[in-house]
Amino acid sequence: MSGLSHGCLKRRVLSFILLLASLVAILFSFRSVVFSPHPRVVVSGEGYGSTSRPDIDTLTQTLTVRLSEAEIDRKIVPNISCDEEKDVRRPCVNRNCTKKLPSSPQERLLQLLERKFQLPVVTYGSVIHRIADNISQQDYIFVTAASSNHFEESRALLKNLRERVFSQLQKYLLVFINLGLNNQEKEELAKQEDVHLADFPFHDLPPHISTLWCYSWKPLIIQALLPKTKLLIYMDSSVRFLENATVSWLFQRAVERGLQFLRNPQSVFLHTVDATFNYYGDQACQYQPFPEILAGFGVYHNEDFVRRAVVAPWASCALVP
Ligand SMILES: *[C@@H]1O[C@H](CO)[C@@H](O)[C@H](O)[C@H]1NC(C)=O
Ligand SMILES: *[C@@H]1O[C@H](CO)[C@@H](O)[C@H](O)[C@H]1NC(C)=O
Ligand SMILES: *[C@@H]1O[C@H](CO)[C@@H](O)[C@H](O)[C@H]1NC(C)=O
Ligand SMILES: *[C@@H]1O[C@H](CO)[C@@H](O)[C@H](O)[C@H]1NC(C)=O
Repeated sequence: MSGLSHGCLKRRVLSFILLLASLVAILFSFRSVVFSPHPRVVVSGEGYGSTSRPDIDTLTQTLTVRLSEAEIDRKIVPNISCDEEKDVRRPCVNRNCTKKLPSSPQERLLQLLERKFQLPVVTYGSVIHRIADNISQQDYIFVTAASSNHFEESRALLKNLRERVFSQLQKYLLVFINLGLNNQEKEELAKQEDVHLADFPFHDLPPHISTLWCYSWKPLIIQALLPKTKLLIYMDSSVRFLENATVSWLFQRAVERGLQFLRNPQSVFLHTVDATFNYYGDQACQYQPFPEILAGFGVYHNEDFVRRAVVAPWASCALVP
């Protein structure tokens, strides 16, 4: 991996969501029967510019209530020592880890709301939000993104969505973010009445974001579109709904919990470079007990907690080389 720049390495996380791991991972529920991404699946907000302090008490209450409502399955976040765990891929508690994640929700929130995790999205705010310029306010936005090398796969995703998901919804918007499509592909999408094609502003963002396999464009798309909708459904081009998905159930869960994702049972610690954890002032070993939450499919509820404590710190990390 020596050819990779540090900036890219940092977010060369096929799945990310370490900051969530301590916070909200256990809030998520998973129904992989309904949403089964292909194996290749690797895995906002207004107002950050103001100087007003976020309402910490309200956010803490949101998190505390959700944690108490979550059905915490000890098999998902195990309490087994890494010295005893035989399978190196499985989550376990590293008793040698010198740092601990904060045990209080408020303390963790205060960390994530620090200016340094909010400022980059403010600095690039007008560029990021340009992605959503031509989009009116919606209840549901489904968004995917691809360049030419994933176009075939995206085409199949659109077909799958129309067959299995959109038949159940009255109103929604399907957004396709152009990460580098050729003219023929753009024309094909432009002809499809239910597709809103939007360009990604690579030229006005830090250069590392143009390296597509860094995936730093992903949180920026989520940051841009979340304020435009009640629920944002982000999908990698490899996502497929296997049966007529019960989207009403999924959406209800997303409203109650704030977020819904798919999970990989292996530890997030294994698939994430240390620099990503370090960005948040943490050590990788602190995350060894947590399975991976995959960013390849996610439902995001447009609310303060999700915008400030999840999406903004994630997008900020993506922006910093
Ligand atoms: C985890 O296991 C350790 C050692 O077995 C024990 O001391 C600790 O209380 C357990 N923690 C939880 C949250 O169950
Ligand atoms: C913890 O440290 C001890 C002593 O150095 C070592 O034998 C053990 O393998 C370490 N455990 C883990 C999980 O790193
Ligand atoms: C919005 O529409 C304008 C005018 O058609 C176009 O120039 C611009 O590229 C569009 N924005 C995006 C993000 O696609
Ligand atoms: C899925 O939904 C469509 C539209 O409601 C219906 O025509 C189709 O039979 C359903 N398929 C399955 C497998 O239930």
